[in-house]
Amino acid sequence: HEIKWTLEMAEKGGYEHFMLKEIFEQPRAIKDAVYGNIEIIDGVAERILNAEDVIIVGMGTSYHAALVGKYLIQRFGKIPIIVEEASEFRYEYENLLDKNSLVIAITQSGETADTVAAMKLAKKAGARVIGIVNVVGSLATRIAETTLYTHAGPEIGVAATKTYTAQLTVLTLLGISLGKLQGVDIGEVEKTIPRLPDLVDSVLKYNGKIRELAKRLEDKRDYFYIGRGISYPTALEGALKIKEIAYVHAEGLSAGELKHGPLALIEEGVPVVAIAPTGKTFEKMLSNIEEARARGGLIISLGDDIRLQDVSNVFLRMPKVPEEISPIVYIVPLQLLAYHLSVLKGHNPDRPRNLAKSVTVE
Ligand code: G6P
Repeated sequence: HEIKWTLEMAEKGGYEHFMLKEIFEQPRAIKDAVYGNIEIIDGVAERILNAEDVIIVGMGTSYHAALVGKYLIQRFGKIPIIVEEASEFRYEYENLLDKNSLVIAITQSGETADTVAAMKLAKKAGARVIGIVNVVGSLATRIAETTLYTHAGPEIGVAATKTYTAQLTVLTLLGISLGKLQGVDIGEVEKTIPRLPDLVDSVLKYNGKIRELAKRLEDKRDYFYIGRGISYPTALEGALKIKEIAYVHAEGLSAGELKHGPLALIEEGVPVVAIAPTGKTFEKMLSNIEEARARGGLIISLGDDIRLQDVSNVFLRMPKVPEEISPIVYIVPLQLLAYHLSVLKGHNPDRPRNLAKSVTVE
């Protein structure tokens, strides 16, 4: 018994939980994801441009990465992208694919039953299948014709953290590569890639501040995460994190949907987490935040524009980055928030109830 305890402590490398360790490993994971893929990414970008239709599938956090991938590939590759949860895709697309289709499957474990089934279905229909996978040699890598590895290293915490930012890094590289092929200006984004580990490091410094915020939020039962455009998946992922490990109700919404129903649920003190980097939709986000604030929402905003301070109860000032990079940087404080809420509530964030690291049953 004692030996096991010592081993586990050693594996956690001084952190109280694997999840916290893995959150802090992100600067390294991102760097490895870049180095590991830089040579092979162009070939994949070419295949995307040669395909007639491109569908990205995944589940859970990997599905959110797929959504970010959609925005990146659409903007830089100038082609429309379909994203489906693998569990939905597999029952709807069997007659919609042929040899000109390209299916990109994103899966950390490479063993998620629905994702693997989606890949098999695509392959059977003659489509080309590419994997974005973390676990070397997993089932998904044996089905895919090409695998882009995320190189994040083993992830023990059930809630995905470093593997998500590694997936986003790979997708960003893919976006850059597509942008070059399509003559889209990717200068700023490309220049930011080598700075990514430091940028993530700079937001990890908010850890203490976020623990304090978690204390303030400890008794809240409902959370709304809002974002637009490429920040919409960040809202979904931030909400998923606190559902998974803090066991509170959270909804991720595209900010534009707020008025179409959810706004009715916002009353005095309800936390609204706004993901609002400078970019295409910032002005719209500001007005959505004001709508939520007018109903008494407790506004927690993440952004780089100082105007957010006036409309927020809590403003987390983020480093200024190109909008296309922001999903990698902005998810980090939201992971920390979920972590601290979970710990404050007395849960074990590494092993949330009812959930498994990889879901190998359908
Ligand atoms: C489970 C895990 C999630 C993960 C999802 C997809 O639900 O708890 O963290 O995002 O499976 O897993 P995959 O290994 O396919 O990325």
